[in-house]
Order: sequence, then C-alpha cells, then structure tokens
Amino acid sequence: MAGKNKFLSFKCLLIIATAIFLILAFSILSCQISDAQISAQNSNSNILNTEDMENRENIIKLAKIPETNKYALCDALLNRRSVRDFSGREIEFEKISMLLWAAQGITEKDKGFRTAPSAGALYPLDVFLFNKDGVFKYLPDEHKLLQLRPNDMRNELYKACLSQGSVARADSVIAITAVYERTTGKYGSRGIRYADIEAGHVCQNILLTAVSLELGAVPIGAFEDDKILEIINLSKKYTPIYIIPIGYPVE
Ligand SMILES: Cc1cc2nc3c(=O)[nH]c(=O)nc-3n(C[C@H](O)[C@H](O)[C@H](O)COP(=O)(O)O)c2cc1C
Repeated sequence: MAGKNKFLSFKCLLIIATAIFLILAFSILSCQISDAQISAQNSNSNILNTEDMENRENIIKLAKIPETNKYALCDALLNRRSVRDFSGREIEFEKISMLLWAAQGITEKDKGFRTAPSAGALYPLDVFLFNKDGVFKYLPDEHKLLQLRPNDMRNELYKACLSQGSVARADSVIAITAVYERTTGKYGSRGIRYADIEAGHVCQNILLTAVSLELGAVPIGAFEDDKILEIINLSKKYTPIYIIPIGYPVE
C-alpha cells in the first residue's frame, strides 16, 4: 500500500514537473517572438531623432571604421584608468569617429542594432561631441555628425561641470543624454533604470575605446543638468547622464 502511494505521488510529481517545463518553454518562446517584433518595429520606424535635423548642410560624414583593431579588449581593460590631465594634442578625426561609433554605432544594419545593448532596442540615448569647432550630435544611422553650434562651448561646459579641470584640459568632450520617455512608454518607471544602465554600457564602450586608441578619458557625473541642456540647446525631455572629457594623456 505504502509502495503504491509512493508510486502515485511520484507520478503526480512527474506530471507537475512536465507542466512547469511546458509553461516555461512556452513563455520563453513568446518572449523571443515579442522581442523580434519590437526589433522589427524599431527598424521600420527609424530610430533617428529628427528634432535637430532641419538643416542638412550641417551634416559631416565621419571616417570609416576599420574592420580590425590590433589592440585587444583585455589590454584595454587592464590599462583603463580615469585620466584627467591631457597634453593638449588634438585628437585625429579618425579617432573621434571611432569613439562615437563605439558609443552608439550601428553594427547590424537590417535591424538597426548598435554597439551597446538597449532594452527592447528602444535606444533612449543620444551622444553629443564638444570640441574647438562647436557642438555636434552623433547620428548613428548615418555614422555622421550634425553640427548644432559652430562655436567652442568647452569653457561653458567646464563651468557646468563644477569647474572640473579635466573638462577644461580635454581636446574633446562627449556627453550622453537620455530621453526617458523612449523607454518608459513600454516599461513604465522601470524604463528610467534601463536608460541609466544603458548609459553605463555606452560610457564603458567609450572609455575602453579611448584606451585602445592611446587616449585617456574620465566619466563625469557631477554637473548641473540645466546648464548642460542650455549649452546643447536641448529641451527638458533630455536628461544629461554622463560627460566624458577625452584627450591624449600627459606623457
Ligand atoms: C557614476 C560616476 C560618476 C563619476 N563622476 C566623476 C566626476 O564627476 N569627476 C571625476 O573626476 N571623476 C568621476 N568619476 C570617476 C571616478 O572618480 C573613478 O572612476 C574612480 O576614482 C576610480 O578610478 P578609475 O576610473 O581610474 O578606476 C565618476 C565615476 C562614476 C562611475
């Protein structure tokens, strides 16, 4: 009798385990399908933010990205250190192109996927460049720069970053901003977390690429949000998350 009961409860367990397995398998499958649908929708709806795109004359074609880079990732990881003193040497256009591509470049044209992962492939972040020639927005889809301002705003940026010397000494500065509504539309308030996490991915891509190009950089989180928006001429729907001064380190 006890043996029969044992057999029955084993049979019950087996049925429950099979049911759980089937439910799990079904939910994983449906998640994958909905992710694929989101990606397809995104690629169709063109992720480019067209807000600043009226004047096509201000578009600058960036340098082609080399297919091989002799500097290995482990070397970059080993050698990455926050650098705040820069030599003043100008960063070459090819290296600026590489840094921007590392931040948000397209790596799969069909779906518009980028170098950094993005929750639901919704891409809430934008990348801006400041140098002696002005303020620019990176256009991932085209791998081009849109000139937003023709004047050097690095001194204003330095003041907005609580007068941190690294900003004043940098040849170029990259800013990462988020438009949270691009992710909160789908994920609710959790979308804010996702966008912030993504800024970390993008920033690390920039920092490691900088090392691989023999440049130095530092991630800056201490700045006045409103002043940064004013300098770039952005509305309040943008939130600046990171400012990254970059340059050749002092030898
Ligand atoms: C979220 C965040 C904010 C930061 N803000 C600043 C900053 O405002 N100014 C600065 O000089 N460094 C800033 N840093 C850099 C840290 O000071 C630096 O990473 C830390 O001292 C460790 O040194 P390492 O980057 O060389 O490993 C920040 C780093 C992170 C992750």
